[in-house]
Amino acid sequence: ALRRAGNIHWQHLDVDRQARARSLGQSPRCVWFTGLSGSGKSTLANLVDKRLHALGRHAFILDGDNVRHGLNRDLGFTDEDRVENIRRVAEVARLMTEAGLIVLVSFISPFRAERRMARSLFGEGEFIEVFVDTPLAVAESRDVKGLYAKARAGELPNFTGIDSPYEAPEDAELVLDTVNEPADALAERIVVR
Ligand code: PPS
Repeated sequence: ALRRAGNIHWQHLDVDRQARARSLGQSPRCVWFTGLSGSGKSTLANLVDKRLHALGRHAFILDGDNVRHGLNRDLGFTDEDRVENIRRVAEVARLMTEAGLIVLVSFISPFRAERRMARSLFGEGEFIEVFVDTPLAVAESRDVKGLYAKARAGELPNFTGIDSPYEAPEDAELVLDTVNEPADALAERIVVR
């Protein structure tokens, strides 16, 4: 169980988030990609990252697969572990926006309550939820990592969309149709936002 530490006071730091953002010459953002496994979250985050980089912006990608190799290597795919996974990454994303960055968060983040919690950590207009709206049948037919086949064969329990829920966003800032629009065009829509 998580315990809140006692006897800890908030330490005031003189260089504040505005000062850091100003020195980077940008407005920090948390761009939060959510969608099924294989929906195209990482591909889109990568394209957006490349475009921002080319524009001289300071961005950074937090990707589920990668963060689960390090910071979150102790977590699996039960509901409880996914909740903790998202809690940690939301806090890391917040620290990164305090450092002035544009953070691109690419996690399935299947639960509405956790996405709402993540949103609550950011200021007005700072959090941009991007629903990568690829239907299950399409993600499953692509099956880039072969995980859907394993899940269907019963070798991968708690797989999102199969035997673990995905709660589609109701208030996303952007809803991306990856079936009918090319990835480049979708990435551009995110960058201009
Ligand atoms: S979550 O739900 O936000 O905690 O998931 P996330 O941290 O984004 O990790 C998703 C990637 O882990 C792989 N994987 C699984 N996904 C879903 N369900 C189960 N059971 C599972 N086991 C492993 C999978 O490669 C996901 O990557 P993406 O990039 O989303 O396809």
